[in-house]
Amino acid sequence: MGSSTVQLIKFEDFWYSSTRFPNIITFQRHFRAQQTDFFVTSFPKTGTTWLKSLLFSIINRNHHPPKQSPLLTQNPHELVYDLETGIYGGNQKLPRPQQLNNIPSPRLLHSHLPYASLPESVKTSECKILYIARNPLDTLVSHWHFYPKIIKKISGDEDFQPHDINAFFEDFCQGNVLFGPFFEHVVGYWKQSLERPDKVLFLKYEDLKEDTSLYVKKVAEFIGVPFSYVEENEGVIQEIIELCSINNLKGLEVNKTGMLSKFVENNTFFRDGEIGGWRRYLSASMAERMNTLMEQKLRDTGLSFKLLPAE
Ligand code: A3P
Repeated sequence: MGSSTVQLIKFEDFWYSSTRFPNIITFQRHFRAQQTDFFVTSFPKTGTTWLKSLLFSIINRNHHPPKQSPLLTQNPHELVYDLETGIYGGNQKLPRPQQLNNIPSPRLLHSHLPYASLPESVKTSECKILYIARNPLDTLVSHWHFYPKIIKKISGDEDFQPHDINAFFEDFCQGNVLFGPFFEHVVGYWKQSLERPDKVLFLKYEDLKEDTSLYVKKVAEFIGVPFSYVEENEGVIQEIIELCSINNLKGLEVNKTGMLSKFVENNTFFRDGEIGGWRRYLSASMAERMNTLMEQKLRDTGLSFKLLPAE
């Protein structure tokens, strides 16, 4: 595992940061889901920040219309709380674990854990899960950019550089990255979404990019607050889409200068947000290898990913 910037530990077939591992176990053993909870779940760097922003805006659209949204002054990760690394990781900006029951319902929560490792009550209660997936090449490149920025802060080494992308590519294909293996993570949620479509909504970053309005409506229906004709005609969907667009969020002062925690700058969550941006970093032969791996891993699942934007 030559490329990893953090020490990894394997648990229930997936890799975790060894320093974060105790928080993950505490979350898994002690967290109790409520029927009214909504969970955003994801493999890292697949559009979590975007889905959090959309979910928050859709559910709170009457209470906080887009023009007065808390998203204008707070990072999306301060509004939809990460569990294992945020709340259970002691993030000062988020509620403590003992305050979880005081959060008004519906609670908007997030986890990067694979489906099989989620706390039992999340799987068995009537709470709902919204999973976002993204093609492996853009996910890989986004991952490769993100973690060194955090390590740079933690180590205080301003010259810290990302590891060789070829080595990271190998590790990603082998599954030896944080919350990896990637395909097993995705397939775990995909299968649940087929078996229990009322419980798990499976979204793809590429679909959201190509027809945001359609998927915003799907999210609203899934969480039980569909848009009315009046709202559609008044442009509420469009306002939410614009509020949550990467260009808008990236340009807000809070996301340009704020910190989510001691070592995580808000701006690290916003980069290009492209489909196919991987072409600037990975060779055609790497893409071909990933394609072959993807075909193997997704065979007979009915799932596929677009690696490039629609022409
Ligand atoms: P890139 O690094 O490819 O630009 P996550 O939120 O799961 O950490 O994923 C981060 C990725 O989503 C980054 O991709 C980031 O730029 C992109 N992203 C963040 N906010 C977004 C938004 N509002 N719309 C679309 N993409 C967004």
